[in-house]
Amino acid sequence: MVVVPDHDDIARLVAARIATIVRARAAEGRPCVLGLATGSTPIGVYRELIRMHREEGLSFAHVTTFNLDEYYPMAPDNVHSYVRYMWENLFSQIDIPREQVHIPRGDLPRDEVEAHVVAYEAAIVKAGGIDFQLLGIGKTGHIGFNEPGSGAESRTRLVALDMVTRRDAAADFFGEENVPREAITMGVATILAAREVAILATGEHKAAIVRRAVEGEVAVDVAATFLQRHPGTTFYVDAAAAADLTRVATPWLLDEVKWTDALVLRAVVWLSQTTGKAVLKLTERDYAEHHLSSLLARHGSAGDVNGMIFNELGSRIRGRSKLPSGQRMICFSPHPDDDVISMGGILRKMVLNENQITVAYMTSGNIAVFDHDVRRYVDFLARLARDQRLDVEAIEAMRARVLAFLAQKKPGDVDSAEVQDIKRVIREAEAISGIETIGLTATAARFLNLPFYQTGKVRKDPIGPADVAIVKQLLRTERPQLVFVAGDLSDPHGTHRMCKEAIESALAELKADDPSFEQPEVWLYRGAWQEWPITEATWLVPISQDELRLKIQAIFKHQSQKDSAPFPGQDDREFWQRVDARNKETAAFLDRLGLAEYFAMEAYVVA
Ligand code: F6R
Repeated sequence: MVVVPDHDDIARLVAARIATIVRARAAEGRPCVLGLATGSTPIGVYRELIRMHREEGLSFAHVTTFNLDEYYPMAPDNVHSYVRYMWENLFSQIDIPREQVHIPRGDLPRDEVEAHVVAYEAAIVKAGGIDFQLLGIGKTGHIGFNEPGSGAESRTRLVALDMVTRRDAAADFFGEENVPREAITMGVATILAAREVAILATGEHKAAIVRRAVEGEVAVDVAATFLQRHPGTTFYVDAAAAADLTRVATPWLLDEVKWTDALVLRAVVWLSQTTGKAVLKLTERDYAEHHLSSLLARHGSAGDVNGMIFNELGSRIRGRSKLPSGQRMICFSPHPDDDVISMGGILRKMVLNENQITVAYMTSGNIAVFDHDVRRYVDFLARLARDQRLDVEAIEAMRARVLAFLAQKKPGDVDSAEVQDIKRVIREAEAISGIETIGLTATAARFLNLPFYQTGKVRKDPIGPADVAIVKQLLRTERPQLVFVAGDLSDPHGTHRMCKEAIESALAELKADDPSFEQPEVWLYRGAWQEWPITEATWLVPISQDELRLKIQAIFKHQSQKDSAPFPGQDDREFWQRVDARNKETAAFLDRLGLAEYFAMEAYVVA
């Protein structure tokens, strides 16, 4: 098990390991066989391998590859095909000979699949077996597409995809109904036959399945558990994906621990949760019965420790009177709506405290607008034009072009520039209406439209100098004393993570360029998918019933995302419902610990 802080660290480590094997085989004059995966997780590894090929002369001329899987049916040139994914993300940028690449075929007639999968297995054996197998892990615990029910003896075959997997892929396919129902995948036995296996997982959304795969019983309902029997397997996880592992979440249950302040806090909160008692009511016996005697030995009586933690948590609560006033601040919102979804409550308080607030929308969010909304808006425009005698001809011509484009568009097709623009404008108008609801005016909004997002596709480009330059320019003109940044790691498309990277790079460059530039304080927010755990939060901000109502009204203004968002993830609830539940739950958690009873709460971490 390798636990590293960040997903970039995993990319570097795993790529370095692959390079070592590739070079060792080359030195022996033997071919090297790699088993490869697709999905979002290995992209960083491929990028690093490409860099090593370009800058360090790493050659793949003697490498043979076998990919884990492919959707069925699937044409190789389809945007969703794993053939296309592999060529775009790796093969076209390294020196691997085409005939040494193997990917299961999704374009064969059904009656030819059986012979194909047998031949695929035979080709692996003929190549000498897999030296190194790269894996991701799905929410079902699948490796390859070995869904629950896949046995340890399974080989390459056609399988039905699990509902959870299809739902996870729904965003990429623009709707669950477009996700294929089947796939061809290497079997569990095929994977276990590899000499070395690296399984990668990043983000909070993988934490529960990583725990099940590593600590759970070996069982057919979670294919990744079979790796427990493979001595050459290494799990590479970032801190977020490792968070539920016993050794990380409750290490005192396993071994002696070094009691830091942060760990004492987590242990006491955990004890309160586990026993169902308020912090101030925990007894010596509770500590002893839950492997926490060493904590008391180090920090004094139960009463002392309880009091210390109670006071610590209490000191993190910041109502309006304890929040900044009269300061310059920027709220960086990755998409137009994260501002109000994640921090609508504190924004309202900051408005009342007469701060000078800029809300910077980093991307247009155009990809998440449905086509039917575009039709509705162009219809509105045409009607208004006729009614008000605006430029009817120009507007009708635009409407005709847009409708013709949408009529022939297939799911997943990239929108025309004109349609992308209309979608962007729809979201801009919603964003303005949202911040007006909480008391700001349109002049507070800046639409940065960062270039990395402008692919028109779900998959984005990496953050580049052009993105950083735009953020720097804004920081230079606004000179904020405080900035709010989305600290989510589980954003399904990585956009939040990339926006954070752009801001961090901009701040670092400003510091280097101009030592007199006053670095703002950085407050990280979460909340679109998850809230900060109470034990990690620096500040807990109480939200009254009225404030929560206003916040939800501001979220309602993002109408294109309401009722059914194009990218809802696994949670069927609308964003405002999640916010309502999450903010109330944070307050209720504090209440259960025996602190004051608040209506709702948002949480922030000072970076
Ligand atoms: C991909 C594959 C899958 C993915 C898994 C995780 O070839 O076989 O098992 O590795 O679904 O996907 P991401 O990395 O997108 O979370």
